[in-house]
Amino acid sequence: MSVLIKNGRIVTAAEDYISDLFIEDGKISAIGKDLPYKAEKEIDASGKLVFPGGIDPHVHLEMPFMGTFSSDDYETGTRAALFGGTTTVIDFILQTQGDTLHNALKTWQEKSKGKAVGDYSYHMAVTDFNDSVAEEVVEFIEEEGITSFKTFMAYKGALMIDDGQMINLMKVVKENGGLVTVHATNGDVIDSLVAKNLSEGNTAPLYHYLSQPEVTEAEASARFTDMLHYTGCPGYIVHMTCEGAMNAVRRAAMRNQKVFVETCPQYLLVDASVYENGFESSKWVMSPPIREKKDQEALWAGIQQGLINSIGTDHCPFKWDQKLMGKDDFSKIPNGHPAIEHRMELIYSEGVKKGRISLNKYVELTATNPAKIFGMYPKKGTIAVGSDADVVIFDPNKKHTISKDSHHMNVDFSNYEGWEVTGKTETVLLRGNVAIENGECHAEPGSGQFVKRDKTSYVI
Ligand code: URP
Ligand code: ZN
Ligand code: ZN
Repeated sequence: MSVLIKNGRIVTAAEDYISDLFIEDGKISAIGKDLPYKAEKEIDASGKLVFPGGIDPHVHLEMPFMGTFSSDDYETGTRAALFGGTTTVIDFILQTQGDTLHNALKTWQEKSKGKAVGDYSYHMAVTDFNDSVAEEVVEFIEEEGITSFKTFMAYKGALMIDDGQMINLMKVVKENGGLVTVHATNGDVIDSLVAKNLSEGNTAPLYHYLSQPEVTEAEASARFTDMLHYTGCPGYIVHMTCEGAMNAVRRAAMRNQKVFVETCPQYLLVDASVYENGFESSKWVMSPPIREKKDQEALWAGIQQGLINSIGTDHCPFKWDQKLMGKDDFSKIPNGHPAIEHRMELIYSEGVKKGRISLNKYVELTATNPAKIFGMYPKKGTIAVGSDADVVIFDPNKKHTISKDSHHMNVDFSNYEGWEVTGKTETVLLRGNVAIENGECHAEPGSGQFVKRDKTSYVI
């Protein structure tokens, strides 16, 4: 199929200009003013922004977690992502402790097969490192196109690895051109605070927040970056929330380390007062928890200073009856919230419209840097001749209200219920096919493709 997008304002991480885009065979094949081509479909993008499709580097689809599964699967999750202008997501495969990485890969391939509506890739979460897993790590990088390895410094007994395993994983990943990513919080300290709070009869969601003070994230982020420094491995810290953790990265940057950082909309936009609402607050039970206003400021500053490189969602939705599993014990509330659909619109509205970041920075954070860091650039993450035609046509002025009644995620509440945002994803092309138009999804389950990734680019 060929598509001609006329007169759009094309925004990449580096450029901003009005032009036409000609798309053929799934790729961008020409960019220029008044292109003299005929196409099967023509779209007038006058007055609209034209971005590269968003890349969400942090989602959990149908993930087994805390005795249940996150409620969006590959079909509902990637479709909701498309509605919001995200054309590619990176999900997490979880190794079962005592089992192989390849068995976990097969399980996740079954989850996505025939279901994905948008494009996707996987990070491999290593929860049990040993010599045979080390060999699998090399195979994943060389043969599977899975080049990022997630680690957890918390969730002991299920996902957490110890520092010895961490260092040995870093050594093999460094030697083979991959990247170690981390959930950086001190699991032992958190577990002891959880136990203390429960023993004192403190069972409300507020105590989830009080059991994970800033120091637990600051300490783990510093330990992780120190281990990266010792091994020479590049790293990526997911869902950073706070000033103390930012300071650890600042110190690593002063040593000229390759440490990339992701934050998420919720940590930029919401503060810990959300935990003062009884059990309603369980919709904000996630790890790390929402922090203070001063941390929001620190994160926006970190973006300006180039210390934060990407914005993911950590989309991990649970329906209300799943949240109720922790009605009498905050430690049993499944951690996570729905967000995959609203990342692009929230950050545009709260970031670009409110003058906190430029349009170029917006594209860099939501598409270009995730593509570069995770080995998908320039196939994904930009608008350039030869790139996949993953394109978002965005109305910069359209106001709309977020609600569970209109969202497409498989969850019966919205954390942003009633939020009015300015800017709306109007049309989305995935590899040149019209996926979203006039509020409808035209992409079928199974049309999303697995993206084999290259070795990590250590500079962005
Ligand atoms: O609360 C969260 N973040 N749930 C998903 C798992 C994780 O830690 O990313
Ligand atoms: Zn996490
Ligand atoms: Zn996560």
